[in-house]
Amino acid sequence: MESDRESARIVLDFRPEDVHSVNDRLRRAGPLVPVELEGVRVWAAARYSTLQAVLTHPDLSRDIRHWSEEGRRALDPGGSLAQIVRDTSMVNAEGAEHRRLRGPLARAFSPRHVRGLRPGIEKAAATLVDRLAQLPPGPVDLRREFAYPLPSEVIADLLDIPAERRPELYEHGRVTATTRDGRRRIADARAGRRAVLTEVVAERRGAPGDDLISELIALEGDRLTADEVIDTIETLFVAGHVTTVNLITNAVRALLSSPGQLRLLRSGERPWDAAVEEALRVHSPIGLFPMRYAVRDLRIDGVPVRKGEAVLACYAAAGRDPERYGPRAARFEVSAAPPSHLSFGQGAHYCLGAPLARLQTGIALAALFEAFPDMAPAEPLDRLGGLDTVIAVSTRTLPVLLGRRAR
Ligand code: HEM
Repeated sequence: MESDRESARIVLDFRPEDVHSVNDRLRRAGPLVPVELEGVRVWAAARYSTLQAVLTHPDLSRDIRHWSEEGRRALDPGGSLAQIVRDTSMVNAEGAEHRRLRGPLARAFSPRHVRGLRPGIEKAAATLVDRLAQLPPGPVDLRREFAYPLPSEVIADLLDIPAERRPELYEHGRVTATTRDGRRRIADARAGRRAVLTEVVAERRGAPGDDLISELIALEGDRLTADEVIDTIETLFVAGHVTTVNLITNAVRALLSSPGQLRLLRSGERPWDAAVEEALRVHSPIGLFPMRYAVRDLRIDGVPVRKGEAVLACYAAAGRDPERYGPRAARFEVSAAPPSHLSFGQGAHYCLGAPLARLQTGIALAALFEAFPDMAPAEPLDRLGGLDTVIAVSTRTLPVLLGRRAR
């Protein structure tokens, strides 16, 4: 049994040539598949129904204390997995602890409150579109000039990060988002980001305002420790923009590759939100997310999982599962009502920022495609290099020719 499992183990490369062919292989290999990632041996849940079972299983916990000694020993302390599984925010908490950490944010990220952010986000998108229109003619990297700055500014506004601290934070974010920059630089950038956020919190303590950081500081001592306030802000800052940058990039790329679908959106026959949902499903910005641990011996879709073993949630693979989505599984189609997906998770850890991510991506697509009706790829879209990680799925650049600006 053990040797069968080892011979079937698939090694997930942090620089995959083609994420989706790896995902097809994972889905075909079985409901739960033994994989190795950064030297760690875990189970991968790549089929839609298996992923759903994993996300809602009462005996799979995000709490690292349930991981076997052997699993934890294999974790590379400087690697990208360690960064996520050792995070002490709500992401890895369960039960009452999870409610204590997530509860204070429920109002700020509720659909109702987020709807009120629309005018500010539309203004930020319009400013970026104006800036794009002023660039000299020639190829423009939309990822850098549009997809990146919009969510960064939106989350920085929500947290009320002072304008003069933002460039430094964005630069740290740029470094941490790529493994090409080398471990030392990434570790320094993470430390730098933490230092800036710690200073911003210290300043805000002396001058509280009507913002999320001040709300969290008000809970210090009573509900949250000082470290947890910083951890929560760091999680919001990182989760709040990196994924949305990738979603906007992926959605724009999908639309530039499907002129027929784009026409339906431009003519108003289909809403921009349909493109957002379809991009989430077919081009999930999260490839896979670590980690859930079995708190006892259990079975998932017939596969025995032993107490202390870990399971990876493979979001990008589940979004294209033909068993769930049939012949349209890998096709980007806004023409029919987009089917539901798991790309924001499900259950207690369902993405806190889903309403915000949906709103800003819808606004971003409408602003961009309405302003530049002739926009076209500046390079073949299927040859753009991917991110060098299996956790996030997107391209490193998105070169386009903007064309004339609509009046
Ligand atoms: C396109 C954009 C986004 C995608 C695809 C996305 C996806 C996800 C997914 C899949 C999870 C669950 C992970 C798991 O447990 O396996 C998650 C959790 C989370 N997301 Fe997002 N996210 C996005 C944007 C955002 C934004 C804008 C924010 C905040 C401003 C945010 C904050 C969070 C937080 C705090 C959690 C942890 C929730 C918990 O553990 O209770 N996300 N997200």
